Amino acid sequence: MTEISTIGVVGFGVMGAAIGMNAAMSGYRVVFKELNDELVKTMFDRWIVSPLNKRIEKGKMDQAQMDQVVSMISGTSHYEDLAECDLVIEAAVENMDLKVQIFDDLSKVCRKDTILASNTSTFLIEKVMTKATHPERTAGLHYFFPANVNRLVEVIRQKATNDDTYDALMGFAEKNRKTAITVKDFPGFAINPIFISSYMVLDSFYNGKQYNAATLEDISQKALGVRFGIMWVQNGSGLGTCYHAAVSMYDYLGHSEIGYPGVPSQLINQFEGGKPWDLTDGEVLQDEALRKAVADRLLGTIFAISTHLIENDVVSIKDLELGVCTSLAWPKGPFSLMNEMGMAEAARLVKTVVEAGDFKMPKKFSGDTPEAWAL
Ligand SMILES: NC(=O)c1ccc[n+]([C@@H]2O[C@H](COP(=O)([O-])OP(=O)(O)OC[C@H]3O[C@@H](n4cnc5c(N)ncnc54)[C@H](O)[C@@H]3O)[C@@H](O)[C@H]2O)c1
Repeated sequence: MTEISTIGVVGFGVMGAAIGMNAAMSGYRVVFKELNDELVKTMFDRWIVSPLNKRIEKGKMDQAQMDQVVSMISGTSHYEDLAECDLVIEAAVENMDLKVQIFDDLSKVCRKDTILASNTSTFLIEKVMTKATHPERTAGLHYFFPANVNRLVEVIRQKATNDDTYDALMGFAEKNRKTAITVKDFPGFAINPIFISSYMVLDSFYNGKQYNAATLEDISQKALGVRFGIMWVQNGSGLGTCYHAAVSMYDYLGHSEIGYPGVPSQLINQFEGGKPWDLTDGEVLQDEALRKAVADRLLGTIFAISTHLIENDVVSIKDLELGVCTSLAWPKGPFSLMNEMGMAEAARLVKTVVEAGDFKMPKKFSGDTPEAWAL
């Protein structure tokens, strides 16, 4: 199996820097590339020197340990300096033309056995790699924000990805102390299709009155058994990111055999207003019937898209359960939730979202009450 010891990171922003820091702390040499020398210095100071100094101040690290990590990371503004890398992870801004160009440029300077991976959130890996000259050495490596804390990594095999590339990336994730799941090249991969449709459906109930943000946050907390609900997580991700991701997912899947909810006007308005959801915008609604209407649609959405992901061989049941619990911090994954609630009730909720036009009916739920999931 390919031995990885030096990695390149293209784009040293929020994600790239956290990926680089994580790798350096796990013993990898890291060479990052930024747009120009000024950004190389700014990003190194912002994402490496300053946070490590804070760790020293808090007594979580000593100077020798910091020097060790810093010595593992260097920056450049030239692709040629990535020539020696065994693996290059691209984490530049989410723009298709830019990413295609980056992999074209990397293909010209890297060895033919260098593994090229993208951290894109929304583009198909096959498309991003159109100009990579050795597609069998390409894959997706999708980290979750914040990438040095969130343990999940999706390893995305595109059609051309060979076994050695896949095995090397699984090994790399493990040495970085990450939980890796295997995912097919699919819009949004495995976790985001669930998370994004969840907030789209929840937001569609918002009316600033009985369904205020405080109520929707509370309903999502109770339905999923989480401390931080879906309105809170949207604020953390940024409403801009949430809006663009919703548009992208609808474009990919809205008219497919899977279906996807339309982008709700409430999310568009909130994004255009430039403010996060106000989670203290009034009383939390107590009316059980009105609360249940929302919780049913939320859970039905999660059940429908999760079932479609399995039926389309995007991910295994085991990996999807693990991935959702690891990345979103839900105590139970979608299939455990369905089994516990009972398949007759799960089928009722799926039917609700199919009738609302959010999804097409998954095969599993198209006949009589289906068997429980084999976990
Ligand atoms: N932020 C998240 O929550 C998140 C989560 C998962 C995946 N992603 C994906 O990770 C990627 C990066 O996102 P981010 O939030 O870190 O963005 P960011 O804007 O913080 O960082 C992007 C960096 O790329 C640099 N860059 C742009 N073009 C470049 C080039 N040609 N060469 C070298 N550097 C270049 C920019 O200067 C910038 O520093 C995107 O594809 C995004 O979709 C983001």
